Amino acid sequence: MTELTDELMQVTDVKTKPVPTLPDAATVLEVHHWNDRLFSFKVERPQTLRFRSGEFVMIGLMNDPDPKTGKQKPLLRAYSIASPSWEEHLEFYSIKVPDGPLTSRLQHIEPGDQIILRPKPVGTLVVDALLPGKRLWFFATGTGIAPFASLMREPEVYEKYDEVILMHTCREVSELEYGRQLVEHIKSDEILSEIEQGKLRYYPTTTREEFHHMGRVTDNLSSGKVFEDLGIAPMNPETDRGMVCGNLAFNKDIMAILDGFGLREGANSEPKEYVVEKAFVD
Ligand code: A2P
Repeated sequence: MTELTDELMQVTDVKTKPVPTLPDAATVLEVHHWNDRLFSFKVERPQTLRFRSGEFVMIGLMNDPDPKTGKQKPLLRAYSIASPSWEEHLEFYSIKVPDGPLTSRLQHIEPGDQIILRPKPVGTLVVDALLPGKRLWFFATGTGIAPFASLMREPEVYEKYDEVILMHTCREVSELEYGRQLVEHIKSDEILSEIEQGKLRYYPTTTREEFHHMGRVTDNLSSGKVFEDLGIAPMNPETDRGMVCGNLAFNKDIMAILDGFGLREGANSEPKEYVVEKAFVD
């Protein structure tokens, strides 16, 4: 075996012995493919990384070498951390865009591989950015459920609210599966169900495939259908708080609806009745 092959073996044989070849490297622990367009993965949590449930970090891979200089640069995107702040590992939920610069490659990661993880969490979808209230709503489309996957497992959420409602809309039933399984797990797991205290309500809908509940989050809110279906009072700025994460058009439309209910957009520096973050990778 030549020296070069020896060296390659050392770098590629990451399954048995990870070699830190990247800056801010985090080793992949698990990958789950939900369908041909969605996957989630867990990585080792850097020991010094602290974050608030609902925040995001920059993650990515090294880009291909520049054809002229041969130099490689990191290719990074913002990803919500989908695991709660107390969890030992970090979890992410991602789409696979066939020609997307990052996700076309990231979708092929396997346990033992390394990704880049910049350990600087930030974001507005945090409990502290809202005024106290009684009901907390999570409004998500597609992979916008990721920050709520974190918050749904956060004890502080259930300490501060009497009821937590997750509205999640996707085109097709298979795209709801990540959220459905997570809610089921929270309700059946001994520790998580104690955290959740029976307060979490789940309202999934599809828009392009037959399902028991259908329609966009926005339409079901403005028509009042969700209040009827769940047997609850309409939104009220005194009691209701919201967190929004979806595509840009969704965010804009739902903000208009929440404004119509008398809720105001807040931020870390100025807590109000709702906060918004866009689902980043598209
Ligand atoms: P629809 O099928 O009616 O477009 P996407 O995959 O395009 O990101 O969409 C994810 C989900 O979000 C789909 O169910 C889609 O519904 C819905 N959606 C897209 N745009 C909006 C919007 N402006 N308001 C509400 N829901 C939206």
